[in-house]
Amino acid sequence: MIAIIGGSGLTQLENLAITAKQIVRTPYGEPSGPITFGRIGAVDVAFLARHGYGHTLAPHEINYRANLWALHSKGVKRVIAVCTVGGIHAQLGAGAIAVPDQIIDYTWGRKSTYFEGSEQPVTHVDFTTPFCETTRQMVIAGAKDAGVALVAGGTYGATQGPRLETKAEIDRLERDGATMVGMTVMPEAALARELSISYAALAVVVNPAAGRGTSAKGIDMDDIARIIETTMAKVRLVVAKAVEL
Ligand code: HPA
Repeated sequence: MIAIIGGSGLTQLENLAITAKQIVRTPYGEPSGPITFGRIGAVDVAFLARHGYGHTLAPHEINYRANLWALHSKGVKRVIAVCTVGGIHAQLGAGAIAVPDQIIDYTWGRKSTYFEGSEQPVTHVDFTTPFCETTRQMVIAGAKDAGVALVAGGTYGATQGPRLETKAEIDRLERDGATMVGMTVMPEAALARELSISYAALAVVVNPAAGRGTSAKGIDMDDIARIIETTMAKVRLVVAKAVEL
């Protein structure tokens, strides 16, 4: 089964014909909320709102281990993770969508592995290619089918948040090679890899990263809300096409 993890602005999938909702308990505690099961077209899809249904969990408060474990325990083999980002590269203006192919992790203090504790053998998963290429190509092809422009690559810099970055921090991320910045793909992608879940991210650019915009007032939350509102419709279209591929 394929699952969609919804981020800010995507706490439900209107085009999902819901068949069940289930609260799943895990050895790692509570997921962000119940998993919604349903169908998009002919395809069985599970949905989980990463920040909770009332958007109450900050990026560093999310129980990523419980979320991925819960999906895995329900037979999820593939995840399309929708997440909002700030655009660093000039190609990634507000309203753009992208399917990153690399990650740099700047987060700290998050529970980011299942392989810990005295009963667990030390295990190092390969993470050279952090996203599943097949799943990435499904999203890219889904966008093409939906007639939606998409940037098919990029490096996602994962920051701790919840505050946004300073201009100097974004300059550093850019020097490191990051083309976009967000707060949630790590440790999500790494945990998916540990569970052998095929995982790709669909990143929605909701603001120019710090120091990259033209606005003198900095990053404005009302502008972000407007972009989320106008962009999520095309994200839903892309997801609907992608899951059927
Ligand atoms: N920085 C980090 N995370 C984000 C941003 C940003 O500018 N926009 C949306 N998520």
